[in-house]
Amino acid sequence: MTAVGIDAIEIWTGNLKLDLPGTFAPEKGEDPEKYTKGLGLNASSFPDSYEDIVTMGANAAHRLMERKGLEPDDIGRIDVATESAFDNSKPVSTYVAGCLEQVYGDDFHHANKGERKFACIAGTQSLDDAFNWIQAGRNRGRSALVIATDTALYARGDAGEATQGAGAVAMLISEDPDLVELSTEQGYGSADETDFLKPNQQFPSVDGKRSVQVYLARMREALEDFESVAGETHPDQFAYIPFHTPFPGMVRKAGMLVYRHMIRDTSIEDELAEEIGRQPRAEAFDDDEAFHDALREYMDALKDTETYQEWYEATIDPTLTLSREVGNWYTGSVHVARVSALKHGLENDLDLAGSKLLVGSYGSGAQAEGHAETIQDGWKDEIEALNIDEQLDARYDMSWDDYEEIHDVHNHDMDVDVEEFTAPESEFVFDGWGRMGERK
Ligand code: CAA
Repeated sequence: MTAVGIDAIEIWTGNLKLDLPGTFAPEKGEDPEKYTKGLGLNASSFPDSYEDIVTMGANAAHRLMERKGLEPDDIGRIDVATESAFDNSKPVSTYVAGCLEQVYGDDFHHANKGERKFACIAGTQSLDDAFNWIQAGRNRGRSALVIATDTALYARGDAGEATQGAGAVAMLISEDPDLVELSTEQGYGSADETDFLKPNQQFPSVDGKRSVQVYLARMREALEDFESVAGETHPDQFAYIPFHTPFPGMVRKAGMLVYRHMIRDTSIEDELAEEIGRQPRAEAFDDDEAFHDALREYMDALKDTETYQEWYEATIDPTLTLSREVGNWYTGSVHVARVSALKHGLENDLDLAGSKLLVGSYGSGAQAEGHAETIQDGWKDEIEALNIDEQLDARYDMSWDDYEEIHDVHNHDMDVDVEEFTAPESEFVFDGWGRMGERK
């Protein structure tokens, strides 16, 4: 079977920044540590008034094409994954291709374009589609461009407001990839859920506390299903485990869940449920406070063990470094976590070629997927080429008033005209709703 996977990756962050402990916490009257320690976030990225999902996606894709010396003819497929789409008919990929065509003076006439939707897991689903398309031999030697782009905004005052973010990840999926090879080992946990949804509305209706439990339940099922294909997993088997990261505090819980599963300590929910007189498993992740108190007590004890701490510091914590500075990017978030992990490997001069990743994706509604990847020989050059640190440093740090204005600008129900906070530099800019940006 041909090796197929991610050949190259680029990240584009929204050009604005909201400081959570410094700006958000005082306005909310909250302890800054609720954000830095509880949720695990220092800042969120936001789009400036001239940015949207199209410009961010096109900018990430353009940077990737330039760096890899690609022309439109090299791309046979463009898929955009997003849960912030503004057009119910025309896929965002056509808008992105339209932007890119302004630069290349050529079009993507023979490329198949589409849009994938299943909340945050759609980025990984697009990756799977590209993998299948190439493995089926339908690509005619060409690569697929997968773009995960979102403006993850919540209504003002919603509990999710602290976890907002905006940015895009572009990935080139090819034969003989330089970054990671995708394996066929894959497992799912999927159920009809209504914890987070946007039925014809811009901002999500979300039951935040329940969404956390649904995430964990589906992730556990996905891991069980993954093991039915790949065999039993072990904590030392994977160099890193990047998860979908709505906020790092969520991944702290997911890391613990996966670890307990991997050390075969899965009986704890059943035991605790029995102790407090509940049905095991079926109700193991429900809203029962006594159950969750008991579970928390158990987890706190495990968390304090040296073995767990060492594993967490090596395998999970490095996946969270970028997320702490950018917030939730929905479809792009798990792919930011993968980059964050590999950046850690680069900065610590680790020899990662041949090592495995277990990638835990999740989308509300709800579905989790676990799949394995193998890090390739070219990974260091690919990660070294990223300029994400420079992008993060260059963001404009918003005051509270700036934040209120920019939130209104991106609220489709409001007609607000605000000056740009930053000057676009060699990038696509938003030029009217639903129209293509132009290159400045
Ligand atoms: N110092 C340290 N920690 C503190 C603290 C302080 N002063 N104050 C609070 N904390 C801790 C809390 O103990 C809590 O940690 P634990 O969960 O480990 O107990 C954490 O900070 C958050 O505090 P709260 O639970 O009180 O926060 P909240 O209720 O205001 O908001 C939330 C939390 C409900 C998850 C909210 O952020 C939310 O609705 N987010 C959007 C939904 C979401 O992201 N869900 C995740 C799963 S769904 C998904 O993944 C899809 C997706 O992308 C949306």
